Amino acid sequence: MQGVHMRELFAGDTTRFQKFHQKSDGVVFDYSRHIATDETLKLLMDLARAANIEDWRGKMFGGGKINTTENRSALHTALRGSAKVTIDGEDVDAFVNKTLAQVQAVSEKINKDKSITDIVSIGIGGSDLGSRIVYETLQDFRKGPRAHFVSNVDGARISTVLKDLKPENTVFVIVSKTFSTMETITNATTAKEWAKGTKNFYAVTMNEDAAKSFGIAVDNILPMRAWIGGRMSLWSAAGLPVAIATGFENFKQLLEGAKAADDHFKTAPLEKNIPVLMGMLGVWYRNFMDFRVHAVLPYAHALRKFPSYVQQLDMESNGKSVDKDSKAVNYKTGPVVFGETGTNAQHAFMQMLHHGTDIIPADFIVIKKAGHKLAEHHRKLNANALAQAQALMQGAPDPKNPTRSFDGNRPSSTLVLTKLDPWHLGMLLALYEHKIFVQGIIWNINSFDQWGVELGKTLATSLLAPGAATFADQTTNALMQILSE
Ligand code: F6P
Repeated sequence: MQGVHMRELFAGDTTRFQKFHQKSDGVVFDYSRHIATDETLKLLMDLARAANIEDWRGKMFGGGKINTTENRSALHTALRGSAKVTIDGEDVDAFVNKTLAQVQAVSEKINKDKSITDIVSIGIGGSDLGSRIVYETLQDFRKGPRAHFVSNVDGARISTVLKDLKPENTVFVIVSKTFSTMETITNATTAKEWAKGTKNFYAVTMNEDAAKSFGIAVDNILPMRAWIGGRMSLWSAAGLPVAIATGFENFKQLLEGAKAADDHFKTAPLEKNIPVLMGMLGVWYRNFMDFRVHAVLPYAHALRKFPSYVQQLDMESNGKSVDKDSKAVNYKTGPVVFGETGTNAQHAFMQMLHHGTDIIPADFIVIKKAGHKLAEHHRKLNANALAQAQALMQGAPDPKNPTRSFDGNRPSSTLVLTKLDPWHLGMLLALYEHKIFVQGIIWNINSFDQWGVELGKTLATSLLAPGAATFADQTTNALMQILSE
């Protein structure tokens, strides 16, 4: 199949773009620049049906315990009003609405208090990246205090953040589903010592007892639930830093946008379903062509953290080598995901995408209407995105000049968002969630656990414990010794 060149596919079919793009509210998804024919797409859809995608989708929205290793539902969609179910005797919708009301009350209270100039969000992984990307993307929508995000246990980060703040003007939001993550608790403890007894601490957690023992007033603790996966928790009270800094109405808009993506994913036929197409094309490359890497290229400075967000969402979900029955898989699963904003990427690593020995499919994310008035900048920005996708596809074959010649046939999708506001951002993030879900179903893996991460956490804890020198690995022991000298 790789033998088929997209140049020929386009030359042989003037309706290719017409056929291979889909529209949903606020987004156009172009998938015409893929090494795929009508038949490829048909077979991929057959595969999706054979894997019972529609049933699994129903199970996810219906609160089925699809996170089998942890015996949990994966109900992030309920957080944006897309799933109405009862879990372990609790009406999920009632919980979601009550929590949203708390998020609203806290964010409005903090916004009314003009003495608060800054909030510091302390969390890591899924308890950080969601709020962080939304806050940074929606800078132009900010209504409340400045937000700072502290995730790394590297003391350099929290000391830099605290250096310019005053305890009486700062609110801390500790986001941790477990309230036991080493980085978060270490940073939160440093913040508590620095804040010298102020009561401006909030927690978002499932572990209310641990938050209370830490010293957070019970009224300042917002709940999470087992069925809210960390990397999909932005839509829960974990989004509190966004609701405070960007305003509750904007947070609601974010949820609405995600709900629009849910509605599309739930109702569009597979052949027109954007996350299904995105997911199945990824499967095509990963399993049938052995492409190992996937690039995410937003042409918007505001989306500069988006590749990191997708990276966790994708790699923590689908970086698995056992299937749902705990059997080792004998096929490839999730790709390496990386990315950078355009046009910066063009001056960094795009050379490899055009000319390297690995083929790296890419997603170009393009914004139709700029949020600023510099029309000429925006025209140039988007022209560059389209030019890169075209160059990847067509290449520059030049038999007389082999050094400069490259063959193209490098696949990419282009997602055009009407604009970059809370609603469209919510939709974009949810499209990727669903794409990753689709791939997890095809690979028959549990996209909602993360056992691989746990060993490192356990080892780090044991290295810090007294008597750690007895730890079996000689290299670790030797390096620990060097670090402590
Ligand atoms: O990185 C592993 C992980 O378990 C993520 O899935 C999670 O988002 C993160 O750690 C933080 O966990 P917690 O919210 O419990 O602090």
